[in-house]
Amino acid sequence: MNPITNKPYSANCKAVRAAAAKLPVAQALPKLRQTIRDNRVTILVGETGSGKTTQLPQALLEEFPHERIVLTQNRQLAARKVADRLAQELDVEVGGDIVGLKHKGCNLTTPATRLTVITDGSLLMQAKAEQNLQSPKVVIIDDAHEHTAATDLILGLLKSLTKSLDDLKIVIMSATIDTDLFRQYFEGAVVETVSGRSYGVEIVYLPEPPMSEFDALLDVIIHVHLYEKGGDILVFVSGVKEALKVINHVQAALTGPKACMKGDEVGPIEIFPLYSQLAAEKQDTAVNSVAPVGRTIGKGRKIIVATNIAETSITLVGVTHVIDSGRVKVKVWDPRSECWTLHDLWASKDVAAQRAGRAGRTAPGKAYRMATREGFHSQLPNRSVAGIQVCDMIGESLNILTMGLNPITFPYIVAPATETVMTAFGILQKLGAINPRGELTESGKAISGLPCSPYNAYTVLLSESFGCTSQILSIVSIIEASEGGQVFVQPTNEEEKKALGKICAFFQHPSGDHLTLFNIYMAYRQASLDNKTDEFVKENTLRKSVLRDADNTRSRLVGIMFNRARNNKGTFRSLRDDDPMYYVKIISALAAGNFTRVAKRIPNSKTLFETVRGGVTVTLDHHTKLSQSSEWVYNELQGTKSGKVMRLATAIVPEQLIKSFPVHWIDEQFFLPEGHIKDALVKTIANMTGLPEKDVLVALPKPTKPRD
Ligand code: CDP
Ligand code: MG
Repeated sequence: MNPITNKPYSANCKAVRAAAAKLPVAQALPKLRQTIRDNRVTILVGETGSGKTTQLPQALLEEFPHERIVLTQNRQLAARKVADRLAQELDVEVGGDIVGLKHKGCNLTTPATRLTVITDGSLLMQAKAEQNLQSPKVVIIDDAHEHTAATDLILGLLKSLTKSLDDLKIVIMSATIDTDLFRQYFEGAVVETVSGRSYGVEIVYLPEPPMSEFDALLDVIIHVHLYEKGGDILVFVSGVKEALKVINHVQAALTGPKACMKGDEVGPIEIFPLYSQLAAEKQDTAVNSVAPVGRTIGKGRKIIVATNIAETSITLVGVTHVIDSGRVKVKVWDPRSECWTLHDLWASKDVAAQRAGRAGRTAPGKAYRMATREGFHSQLPNRSVAGIQVCDMIGESLNILTMGLNPITFPYIVAPATETVMTAFGILQKLGAINPRGELTESGKAISGLPCSPYNAYTVLLSESFGCTSQILSIVSIIEASEGGQVFVQPTNEEEKKALGKICAFFQHPSGDHLTLFNIYMAYRQASLDNKTDEFVKENTLRKSVLRDADNTRSRLVGIMFNRARNNKGTFRSLRDDDPMYYVKIISALAAGNFTRVAKRIPNSKTLFETVRGGVTVTLDHHTKLSQSSEWVYNELQGTKSGKVMRLATAIVPEQLIKSFPVHWIDEQFFLPEGHIKDALVKTIANMTGLPEKDVLVALPKPTKPRD
């Protein structure tokens, strides 16, 4: 009998449960249940594949039969897969009263759901809305070693809650966790270790340092396919571009006209990419497919080329060979230049261990590392950098404030740099989200309540006074869903690249990227009204999942903004199509929302701009097409090998800029160094007001205290 449902187990479920009973964690469960019952914080350390994620939550369902349990996952794919597996082992469906699933854009729970698998980001949102985490009795933080910013903020919240919520149970799990750090952090925490893993994984190093890491990776993939027995291959690379490049080369080497002759002996292959920007259905196909067609026992293989999305938590049934490039991409924020840079780095040894762990989950496996044994030990850092140390802390500080805590005194498990927090405070104050005392303002609460970045949320709120909330919500939604404008499917060859160029030109708006994205999204919505989304997306090589996500984000934003208007806290208006100022109003709202991120073209330069704050020299992104005369743009900065580049730039005219600037920004211009930016501003104000240029700065309001 199934004690959870009070019904007999189905036949399929019995086999799965029998296998689960043999996992290393199984024998330790009675003791673990007792430890968790007797202590506030338990740290569970056990090898990858020992059964932590799938077995412990089930045991706790029995141990606490009337309580709610949440289990965090750091990625949506992992959350979906873990929920599926738990439901399968418990013989129930995901979305009922037993197992629920929650991540951005998905809520498969009922008011009675006992065990919810939730992404750390969604749990943080929930904590923000509830002001604390009163509803669950047991919070299981899985793969805490990853130190994602969201997980670390939840840990800080839990630490401050342990004082007030007496009966809250916290369980922290990982295979590669720094137990000392966590034990010091949660005073009195008990560490439980489970030894053994489901199957062994042999680690293979390169015999000598490679001339080219990429070539070495290809050689190993091809060698493994041609000469190694066993199951499927999982390759880890640092990013999407790298994944597509590997797929192209492997396909050419193993299936193209120049493919090696051994093909018939080893059978066919099918290659799947797996990364977070891929639509959920395509991710599921990569994970679940038993491809390729024509596969027989011992012949034919599936090859998955994945980013770190497949690194923790999930079981890819059939994978016995992991080939790890050893690289990761890390987005790092520089508070001084207020600029993001994407770095391609050696992954940590932690990451390598997790990746290797994917090979031994359903059978013994092998993991190949793209370094010599010595190189691996001397070059790779032991642990990855915590998310909180590389993020901009703007949204994070706002989250902490919304939870009723203070970002300066917050009990971080790994602390962010003071400079980053101070810069974040400065920006939040400019956006009117906090007052000079660092307290959340009414506007800050509204910004924090919108499911988008603080800059975008601020723009949405300001759009009310330009009467274009509906249009701004469309623009913000597509930016959020596409992680900054990546709406097209990556071209994989020259032909596709050319075709994409034509498509881009068709949607191009002369004012720049925001209105181009707006054009694309509006065309998609029209196609959606005509029931032609599939054709539209295919013809224009657009990423359907991004457009669907944008719809999702938009309806959530619309709901919140409507409520605001209904409660007389704001207005919700849409521009009429025949409004002669249609685009001027939209651009004004965008400029007003992003006034801290403006740059001006350097006189007589075709390509160079200077940021108003900070005076940093920047260039336009090669995708961005602006009319030659556009002097002022606003943007988000990204550091690249060739300098700082503006991502998502839109041309603005200085009159709009000045009209839409908040008073405290104008004040700041008193302190701008002499130069072309100050001259241009003075000239514009003189034109607008009819004052002689020499009187402009005198006539402006004297610096006042920033808004409270
Ligand atoms: O969390 P941990 O790495 O300790 O292991 P787990 O996710 O609980 O999975 C334990 C074992 O269950 C795996 O090694 C697989 O053998 C099996 N499993 C599976 O076959 N299919 C799944 N979808 C999940 C787990
Ligand atoms: Mg796990």
